Amino acid sequence: MYQAPRGTSDILPPEQKYWSYIRHTASSICQLYGYQRIDTPTFEDARLFVRSIGESTDIVEKEMYSFEDKGGDPITLRPEGTAPVCRAYVEHGMHNLPQPVRLYYMASIFRYERPQAGRYREHHQFGVEALGAADPALDAEVIDMAWQLYVNLGLKGIALSLNSIGCSNCRPRYLEVLKSYYTQHKESLCPDCKRRLGKNTLRLLDCKTPSCFALNEQAPRSMDYLCQECADHFNQLRNYLNLLNLPFSLSHRLVRGLDYYTRTVFEIAPEGETGAQVAIGGGGRYDDLIEQLGGKPTPAVGFATGIERLVLNLKKQDVVVPALFPLTVFIAHLGQEARDEAMKLTSHLRKSGISTIASLSDKSLKAQLKQANVSGARYSIIIGEDEVKSRTVTLRNMAKGEQQTVPIDKLAEALR
Ligand code: HAM
Repeated sequence: MYQAPRGTSDILPPEQKYWSYIRHTASSICQLYGYQRIDTPTFEDARLFVRSIGESTDIVEKEMYSFEDKGGDPITLRPEGTAPVCRAYVEHGMHNLPQPVRLYYMASIFRYERPQAGRYREHHQFGVEALGAADPALDAEVIDMAWQLYVNLGLKGIALSLNSIGCSNCRPRYLEVLKSYYTQHKESLCPDCKRRLGKNTLRLLDCKTPSCFALNEQAPRSMDYLCQECADHFNQLRNYLNLLNLPFSLSHRLVRGLDYYTRTVFEIAPEGETGAQVAIGGGGRYDDLIEQLGGKPTPAVGFATGIERLVLNLKKQDVVVPALFPLTVFIAHLGQEARDEAMKLTSHLRKSGISTIASLSDKSLKAQLKQANVSGARYSIIIGEDEVKSRTVTLRNMAKGEQQTVPIDKLAEALR
């Protein structure tokens, strides 16, 4: 028996209402905030991700689905959505458009991770990127969008964590202080952190191993080492978040798993939950990335949210989501003539915008009505020999169990 590959899932029909609800809510928010959709390819030149995400990140070191294609080109299945959007921004000369350019995407993302609840090898993200402005009001806009998405979905008890990790001016000094702190405590570090020390010192702050966690609490804070411009940016952002009534807490250990961030970083997670896969969304500013990818210096900010994790949280919180396309009519028929009539009627009702399926079996009426029940249709229609002769059908309201006789040519109208 074949099975879906480890860490991937089939999204079966009963699940689809959650996905549709999330996609619909997300795209309505994008419309309200003036963001336009972009779709980029499922795979890109592998070097795009190595360059942007950073060589010593988990994603690049261990998690990318990379291969050479038959032409010998290095290919990677998209492990995140920001770098492809920046590549498209540069490739299509979007710096010539009025700035900032506000874009959103919904895309499948591939990371070779150890699968568990909320962590998959293929997952899906809704993300937004606002490119071409350094104003902290844009950071606030993006955070506000994320927050509104969760509120509009009906999620309760979510918490926003915020940090600033500085820029290429002030971060080197902070990294020196941080490295020296961890070097003093090297013996207490977990093997992974020992290896990362010096290579990607910032990521040590994020380690969840108990011995490292205690050290991280006491570690020097990037917020205390910001240059004047970064400190002003961070202060203004916090003022804007207060103006928008968005509650947040500062978290000096929040650094994110991708290397391209500058200044603002943030994550949103269910209150009180900790662990590697609880964040429902995260993002931040990446002012140097577009230039690194060959574009003009272009400040930018964005966020992404994992759709599977949203579905998990909607279910956990028993959020009722709208049902998808309930079927209106199921047609049962008895005899060849009735079957032909059912075929015509199905086509007629569908053309009239009424969702309809007809039984494919010649089984007993009882068996066909059982099928009608299982189909979830609101009405069943019964056509037998008598009905064919009298040009009528029996229309049955499935919930109430009431029946009436309706002329065939009045049926669409009656159903409407
Ligand atoms: P990220 O934090 O790596 O950020 O991913 C965003 C969200 O995707 C996470 O908060 C989580 O909900 C979900 N997610 C990540 N990995 C998995 C997984 N293995 N299984 C299920 N869900 C997962 C980014 O990818 C950045 N590109 C976000 C961004 C946009 N920053 C600026 N603009």
